[in-house]
Amino acid sequence: MSLVYKEKIVKWDWYEAESVISTNDTVKEKVCELGRTIVISALHQTGGRGRRGKNWQEIIGNLYFTYTQEAGAQELSKIVSIVGLSLAKVIKKLSPQSDVQIKWPNDVFLEGKKMSGILIENIEKDIWGIGIGINVVGAPILEGTNYQATSLKENGIELDRTEILHYYLKQFFEDMEEYRRNGFKNIREQWLKIAKNYRQEITVKTERETKTGVFEDIDDNGYLILKTKQGEERIIAGDLFV
Ligand code: BTN
Repeated sequence: MSLVYKEKIVKWDWYEAESVISTNDTVKEKVCELGRTIVISALHQTGGRGRRGKNWQEIIGNLYFTYTQEAGAQELSKIVSIVGLSLAKVIKKLSPQSDVQIKWPNDVFLEGKKMSGILIENIEKDIWGIGIGINVVGAPILEGTNYQATSLKENGIELDRTEILHYYLKQFFEDMEEYRRNGFKNIREQWLKIAKNYRQEITVKTERETKTGVFEDIDDNGYLILKTKQGEERIIAGDLFV
């Protein structure tokens, strides 16, 4: 696999590959050699990984990238929220009249359909690889879900994949600055304004169990607060269903 250096985007050195198995794996492999503040995109991703062992299908022209971010493990849930919020804000800016929502923890939905996926993995102590797939030109047919996928193109947003990469990294950088300066409060408020299924009955599947209740809030850590018959539960990680 050969990587071509493109330019610096905000603080990240951006490299592009013709083809990789997974940009998350490539960043993990290359971080020592290329430095700790990098973003790697690929034109082809042959073994893209999704959350919970699912695969992430390649459609040529879609955007696949992974960038590094320094953060303590205790603030990871907040970073997870910021990553989704920044992406949602970019889409809203590109198409102000469209309906953009975030499904906890950080799936971005456009007109009720999933348009992106985010997989955050640890690289080394306090360095995370944030992998994002954005359906720029095409959407896969999803199986085993009760929602569909969509693309930006399908919604009249016609931009080159690399323009979206620039917009996203700039927005994420700004949102992280806001979080580092003023804490999570403002981010949480912005997040809740566009939260999908907020105050509705939902089911959350975690690694160990499945719980049903009302989606009450997210707390100062970005944990989901679920009001169940047994009382209030705080959920750190999981998948949300309706
Ligand atoms: C999901 O919704 O299940 C998360 C999908 C994450 C896909 C992206 S594409 C770029 C990066 N490389 C991967 O192998 N996965 C992420």
